Amino acid sequence: MCGIVGYVGGGQAAPILLEGLHRLEYRGYDSAGLALAEGDKLQVIKAAVRVGELRERVGDGHTAPVGLAHTRWATHGEPTDINAHPHTDAGGRVAVVHNGMLENAEELREELLAAGVTPGSETDTELLAHLIAAELDGTESLEDAVRAVLRRVDGAYGIAVLDATRPTELVVARDGSPIVLGIGDGEMFVASDVAALVRHTQRVVYLDDGELATISAGDYRTSTLGANRTAKTTTTVDVTDEDYRLGDYTNYMHKEIHEQPTAVRRAVLGRLDDRFATAHLGGLQQDARELRSFRSVKLLGCGSAYYVAQLGANLIEEWARIPADAEPASEFRYRNPVIDPDALYIAVSQSGETKDTLAAVQELKRKGGRVIGVVNAPGSTIARECGSGIYLHAGPEVSVASTKAVTNMTVCFAMLGLLLGRMRDLSVARGRGIVSALDALPKAIEDVLAAEEAIAEVAERFSWAARMFFIGRVWYWPVAREGALKLKEISYVHAEAYQAAELKHGPLALIDSGMPSVVLVGDDELLAKNVATLEQIKARGGPVIAVTNAEIPADLADAVIRVPRVHPELDPIVFTIALQLFGYHIATALGREIDKPRNLAKSVTVE
Ligand code: F6R
Repeated sequence: MCGIVGYVGGGQAAPILLEGLHRLEYRGYDSAGLALAEGDKLQVIKAAVRVGELRERVGDGHTAPVGLAHTRWATHGEPTDINAHPHTDAGGRVAVVHNGMLENAEELREELLAAGVTPGSETDTELLAHLIAAELDGTESLEDAVRAVLRRVDGAYGIAVLDATRPTELVVARDGSPIVLGIGDGEMFVASDVAALVRHTQRVVYLDDGELATISAGDYRTSTLGANRTAKTTTTVDVTDEDYRLGDYTNYMHKEIHEQPTAVRRAVLGRLDDRFATAHLGGLQQDARELRSFRSVKLLGCGSAYYVAQLGANLIEEWARIPADAEPASEFRYRNPVIDPDALYIAVSQSGETKDTLAAVQELKRKGGRVIGVVNAPGSTIARECGSGIYLHAGPEVSVASTKAVTNMTVCFAMLGLLLGRMRDLSVARGRGIVSALDALPKAIEDVLAAEEAIAEVAERFSWAARMFFIGRVWYWPVAREGALKLKEISYVHAEAYQAAELKHGPLALIDSGMPSVVLVGDDELLAKNVATLEQIKARGGPVIAVTNAEIPADLADAVIRVPRVHPELDPIVFTIALQLFGYHIATALGREIDKPRNLAKSVTVE
């Protein structure tokens, strides 16, 4: 999704802006550009190119100490040079970069046309540049001009504005799309994502919806759209530039798959209590009485986060015996749901910025629902909107395909299930079993990673397939869905997940020698049923790849991926990691660009 970077200070803005854009590349984009205030003129360089190419076009020798830059993911208008940001007014005085989408863009465009201004691009952002420039004719302050325009805007935005005649300041504002200020020493930074800032500073200020900020080299001030000053607190982020380095890996997905043992160790650190066989989750503001009072749990997320939510619901229901279920946040928000005052709602998100999940949280809060967040990105919008919750501590996730965040989400749900369970009827003995399994999990993940070569060999053998089934039952159904999603998003192989028992109700018709099935066979009470599933598929000539921690008849699988046993309800985690490697190695065999899957962006901040 789109990215914003801005700089005001004593240094040269251009290299800082370009480096910031490079850090935001992982979010997905189709064009890039920057604007510098040189003298009292704007210098704008933008095109439908990668950041590396933009860097070449910008070249050296720009000394401007202020500027803003953008990576665009097309919404209004094609990804072309003209539609790339920054956009300027007709006189070339005001430059604007914008994340989000204006809902009354057509109305604003007609108003400008009636006033004799013809926008050159198809974007909604350019309209803002013209409108702000017009306001500047009647006001002394860029902030007031921006505020006046934003009051007339419907929709979502994070914007940064530069006025060539005021080359010592930038104005930024947000409503529905994040803006973070980075406080340096005699210099100030701004970005839509801390990833672009951490090279320069760890001290950040998050703007809230409906807030503006004017930033200069040594200072910033914030206010509301209603022109009331606001007081902000500075947060020190626990992330450094090092966390974003690729090191010896060829792509971020592979790096992050391998970071999972460390990520899980961080997630459980200081949170497991062996003595009382429970978990301590300091981010939950609810006291024991309130936590005991919930009569049901509803988990909401999108994509992989939704599949993990399904697994989380199973864990909570199994251990705490509270009815729990999961729903895609994107459906929940649009269907006018009945909000149960006795339910605990949980919003799950790696980025903490997913628009549909955020909208579900806002809908819940508006209707008086009690909601907590299970979020990776500290200070993100969903984390702040929920106010209470559990951080994943997975570290920054750069790969578009989520891996370590998925694992840490499951671990966090396991700890929540344990906590809620031990407040109810989960026995000390069962609780202890879960605590020691969570302690042992990083080692089990290491064992899966150590089997990478064998998994890669199976993946390569089946990389001819244009379509695949992923089959799982109960605990392994969300795992099958996640495995299918991982494969399709990075390899473009059509992958469908089915519950094993549903195969006979229709999908079996698709089984033939061209449709391999990845069947998840856990060593549990459903083992015999799963062996029967293998037989059904084999009988119809379908190739079978069994992922298993059980003993299965050798003639029922064309390939076997072996995974270690950890704990009956936590084994799905290690199966998921085996499927990450399987999908990754198919995509690699097909020569896909792993970190830049087509049509996808890392953090989906549009509807
Ligand atoms: C798949 C993937 C997506 C995200 C989804 C939600 O690998 O990454 O399906 O899980 O877009 O994102 P977050 O967790 O940031 O809300």
